[in-house]
Amino acid sequence: MEIKRLAVFVSGSGSNFEAIQKEIMKGKIPGKIVLLVSSNPNAYAIERAKKYKIDYVIINEKDFKNYNDYVLKLEKVLEDYKIDYILLAGYLKKVPAEIVKKYKFRILNIHPALLPKYGGKGMFGINVHKAVLEAGEKFTGVTIHFVDEEYDRGPIIIQKKVKVKKNDTPETLQKRVLKVEHKIYPYIVKKLCKGKLRIPD
Ligand code: GRF
Repeated sequence: MEIKRLAVFVSGSGSNFEAIQKEIMKGKIPGKIVLLVSSNPNAYAIERAKKYKIDYVIINEKDFKNYNDYVLKLEKVLEDYKIDYILLAGYLKKVPAEIVKKYKFRILNIHPALLPKYGGKGMFGINVHKAVLEAGEKFTGVTIHFVDEEYDRGPIIIQKKVKVKKNDTPETLQKRVLKVEHKIYPYIVKKLCKGKLRIPD
């Protein structure tokens, strides 16, 4: 089976990135993470990339003279590495429309809630879990979806529910949801690399 070339986009810790890499190393996924793209030079994910000897690049819009140069840089690096699929994992920037178009249905995102609820601008990290608790939800969960031009939109691939417990704090909830993320993202990446994900028409 052909090995798919993956780029993971991050801005922070990168625990999902590592969960996927671990499954790849077990030989369970016909894919290889060939590149980590970080929008943040201080992301802990970079340390994880070093540990696994995965190439990484820091690309931050702020470092470019203009938006076009920024998009061109992203496009070039993805071409240079012959990327088949892009996996967003805690990536806090919007993927430029040009790239979404070019990689249509080849970009996935994971979100720590049951979209379309608790998604969109500002809904990242602990904010999501705070909002879920404040709303008194009985369930939250994880969503993996194809990426389009908006934050946290685009066709949903899978959702997994997680029960909210009476004594949950945003932190305990985040931890429990993250555990589920680490199971289902590698599972979906496996399907993706095997060509077994249903692509929307
Ligand atoms: C995860 O909760 C993910 O769903 C969200 O950002 C968080 C990233 O965590 N998009 P990590 O960087 O993978 O540890």
